[in-house]
Amino acid sequence: MLERMNHTMHEETRQGEAIAPFVNDPNAYNKKFYIESYGCAMNFADSEVVASILNENGFGATRNFEEADLILINTCSIREKAEQTVRKRLTELRKVKKINSGALIGVLGCMAERLKAQFLEEEKLVDMVVGPDAYRSLPGLITEAETGQKAVNVLLSREETYADISPIRLNTNGVSGFVSIMRGCNNMCSFCVVPFTRGRERSRDPHSIVGECTDLFNNGYREVTLLGQNVDSYYWTPESSTTGQPVTFANLLEMVALIDPALRIRFSTSHPKDITDDVLFTMAKYENICKYIHLPVQSGSTRVLQLMNRTYTREWYMAKVDRILEIMPDCGISSDIIAGFCTETEEDHQDTLSIMRHSKYDMSYMFFYSERPGTLAARRYKDDIPEDVKKRRLAEIVKLQNALSHESNLKDLGKTFKVLIEGNSKRSDQDWMGRTSQNKVLVFPKEQYDLNKGNYVMVKVTECTVATLIGKIEP
Ligand code: 5AD
Ligand code: SF4
Repeated sequence: MLERMNHTMHEETRQGEAIAPFVNDPNAYNKKFYIESYGCAMNFADSEVVASILNENGFGATRNFEEADLILINTCSIREKAEQTVRKRLTELRKVKKINSGALIGVLGCMAERLKAQFLEEEKLVDMVVGPDAYRSLPGLITEAETGQKAVNVLLSREETYADISPIRLNTNGVSGFVSIMRGCNNMCSFCVVPFTRGRERSRDPHSIVGECTDLFNNGYREVTLLGQNVDSYYWTPESSTTGQPVTFANLLEMVALIDPALRIRFSTSHPKDITDDVLFTMAKYENICKYIHLPVQSGSTRVLQLMNRTYTREWYMAKVDRILEIMPDCGISSDIIAGFCTETEEDHQDTLSIMRHSKYDMSYMFFYSERPGTLAARRYKDDIPEDVKKRRLAEIVKLQNALSHESNLKDLGKTFKVLIEGNSKRSDQDWMGRTSQNKVLVFPKEQYDLNKGNYVMVKVTECTVATLIGKIEP
């Protein structure tokens, strides 16, 4: 499967990465916490909010779970496999109880929300279950759990955005940071568990967003990714709506773009039905808003899209792609695709392949359908595509995507891109790794130039693979 470490919102790219925080002066705290995150970028951003709340309450971060007083696992429910991964990991983390019987284990995030107190019965050694809107109550829940009680808070909120909490950046490269701009989701895609685990959609105060992005910039960061389940429906109405103007996503993009031309802006995820011309024109207007849109299609068949409750047709989606490229001919587009949704025929599958060709995706996250309990699809439709058929269709989708990614990279040969350096390349400390505006990874030799991560540099593409561009600095 083509999976690239990316700035978008999918667990496959990040699962099992065992992200633990840097140790921020551990002696300043009485107790130590360890946190590991799974799932989408939103979950990773939430863990940074949790770290901030814990710091305020006397817990310092450790990278070593064996020395932690508190072990937290921030979980994902999007597919069954994501939940299995978390359960497997929990059995390892639980070993800590043998070394330190007083250590507490807490489950955060979407699985906590989905399974609620049931989790405590299924996983006996878990002490706390805390849903995505309940992180402010962590200190109280910890105190409760310390007395030997099981502590649960899975209340969802219509208001919580953690707007006033300054996240503690965990495992950061110091160049790019995630900033959550909204929470929850009001779309009822029939396959999706998110509306149940993350609740109703609510937007965060734009001034706190701009404040957080400005802080990041002042601390040397050069890229922010604005996060939400559906960023295009961001909408903020000031309390005194008689005086203030509402802020749309296009307005917000502009506000963040104006912080500094040297700060790059990305965002994820867009719903094709909600992305407006206003957003596209704002992107086109500011050089520092990256020319890249993650625009999940899910299926290329109008009939299947309707069952998925995506509210657009195949033609409508294709017209949206055309519009994006009309306004920004150099815009990168990527997608999420599900193979083998309920009732999908061979013809529907062919429609998915042909919409991929039309859209010429630079990259896609590709999955086979996994029924999630409680979703509309689980209640209404039979999960009737045999696993071998799902897998075969997925393999065809992956094969096509590899070809499209390669084609897209080949088109970049000989072109020069402005690259933001993120750090050393994975293979060699003699090479830099950075990204183009279109979110493609570009690797190039450092040569004699005195550059650092966080710098911009012009790089000419000389070679490519399916997943990576390789280049040389343009003197
Ligand atoms: N089965 C398979 N894939 C799913 N996704 C969401 N729910 C499911 C499911 N039940 C995929 C969608 C979504 C991405 C985050 O995960 O493609 O855009
Ligand atoms: Fe993110 Fe939760 Fe969805 Fe997983 S289920 S992708 S953690 S919102």
